[in-house]
Amino acid sequence: MRKKIVAGNWKMNKNLQDGMALAKELNEVLTAEKPNCTVIIGTPFIHLAKVSDIIDHKLIGLSAENCADKASGAFTGEVSAEMVKSTGAEYVILGHSERREYYHETYDILKEKVLLALANGLKVIFCIGESLEEREKGIQNQVVKAELEGSVFNLSAEEFANITIAYEPIWAIGTGKTATADQAEEIHAYIRSVIADKYGKQVAEDTSILYGGSCKASNAPELFSKVDIDGGLIGGASLKVADFKGIIDAWKK
Ligand code: 13P
Repeated sequence: MRKKIVAGNWKMNKNLQDGMALAKELNEVLTAEKPNCTVIIGTPFIHLAKVSDIIDHKLIGLSAENCADKASGAFTGEVSAEMVKSTGAEYVILGHSERREYYHETYDILKEKVLLALANGLKVIFCIGESLEEREKGIQNQVVKAELEGSVFNLSAEEFANITIAYEPIWAIGTGKTATADQAEEIHAYIRSVIADKYGKQVAEDTSILYGGSCKASNAPELFSKVDIDGGLIGGASLKVADFKGIIDAWKK
């Protein structure tokens, strides 16, 4: 059975003290009222070790937002998958459109990152999604398929079991413009069919596919009610406990 997941992606927000306060508050709120889904928070590198000590890992999983495409060595400023793992983090977000676009992360670079993450025992939240221009051309299916083929379909079925997919249409990220639940469901079902063609029906059924892009407490219940939407990857609304908790609670509706 695939997991229901609500994952936060803090992006480049919160200094160390504010991030620790946010993690502490979320941990308290979820300790008092247990979620009925897997909850993950993705934080900047500098927060990981401290936040790892604050949270109950049975309640909240911890994720980095990136890792290096090299194992170790003279790569000034980079943070390896092994380093991420050593903080206590269990996950890493890879392939986010912001990293593909602003930091020129190609399919091949992402392929290396995924392999290093898995080799170091991290699970991967792998982001895919089309631009507005690609959606208007009607080529969104080809785009997401190419992203999967380019960076994760080299994995064995056993390795692929450690991948969660996050479908994030670029035009919906931080814009307040959410894909409708029907639009999201349509492409999630397509993504699952592509996984089934590659790895078989059972692997596809067991893969969690999250929606991301202006997801909030008000639209999460409808999105999560769709059969192929297994939760959300949340940016802006993961920065306040009340907002994030509202999305977590969508799984209780
Ligand atoms: P927003 O929820 O702020 O639109 O961001 C989505 C996202 O990019 C999560 O990775």
